[in-house]
Amino acid sequence: MKQREKLYEGKAKIIYATDDPNLVIQYFKDDATAFDGIKKGTIVDKGVINNHVSTKIFQYLEDKGVKTHFVELLSDREMLVKNLEIIPVEVVFRNVAAGSLCKRLGIEEGKHLDPCIQEFFYKSDPLHDPMINESHIKTFEWATEAEVVTLKSEGAKVNQLLMEFFKARGIRLVDFKLEFGRNQGDVLLGDEISPDGCRLWDWETGEKMDKDRFRFSLGSVEEKYQEVYNLVCGEGK
Ligand SMILES: Nc1ncnc2c1ncn2[C@@H]1O[C@H](COP(=O)(O)OP(=O)(O)OP(=O)(O)O)[C@@H](O)[C@H]1O
Ligand SMILES: [Mg+2]
Repeated sequence: MKQREKLYEGKAKIIYATDDPNLVIQYFKDDATAFDGIKKGTIVDKGVINNHVSTKIFQYLEDKGVKTHFVELLSDREMLVKNLEIIPVEVVFRNVAAGSLCKRLGIEEGKHLDPCIQEFFYKSDPLHDPMINESHIKTFEWATEAEVVTLKSEGAKVNQLLMEFFKARGIRLVDFKLEFGRNQGDVLLGDEISPDGCRLWDWETGEKMDKDRFRFSLGSVEEKYQEVYNLVCGEGK
């Protein structure tokens, strides 16, 4: 698949066109940002790890009947995906309290959330991704009513599947963010599923194995990403 012009460069990935208008290439960078881009840095080999971890997870989800944009792994940093019209809504699931939930509502980090909490955020860097609800999505036509049903039901299914997936690998899935998009009449799961967008804690020790290590300068950032890679993809590359 020939790589054509750059369509979009985000904070963590670059999207390239291909000869086929229905397919694009996601190129995974090592760049890391936090707190709305205020903190910037590099996590060595993060792009390689996130590309491989996302590939493994998209393949697992596809096997379980979840429709995703994943087509194939092209190289260490490149993934071929279906071209999506991204729905500008981030779908978040929380199984354990952490991050902005604790800040916003004064909840103690680590509290188990049963039933899990599902939130929507509006994908807008200038507005700092504000939290929204279904009525905002419908009134401002960010997604149709039927699409909202899909975001919630597919999201909940992904949460169950990912909790099992990570538990089997000694990892607690604390929370995560999903992005969906439209492609030829379907709503597909897009973007990436990696330690950048998931909070992952060691099941036994509770040690953080995700981007919080970078956000809060906890050290061993590369080592913990590598550990997630090893647990998800098996030893060696
Ligand atoms: N299959 C796809 N087709 C088209 N665009 C996609 C696809 N999957 C993900 N994207 C979009 O590509 C971009 C990936 O880049 P990156 O994750 O670096 O963005 P970002 O810095 O998080 O910024 P933002 O998501 O706010 O645009 C995102 O905008 C994402 O929504
Ligand atoms: Mg992103």
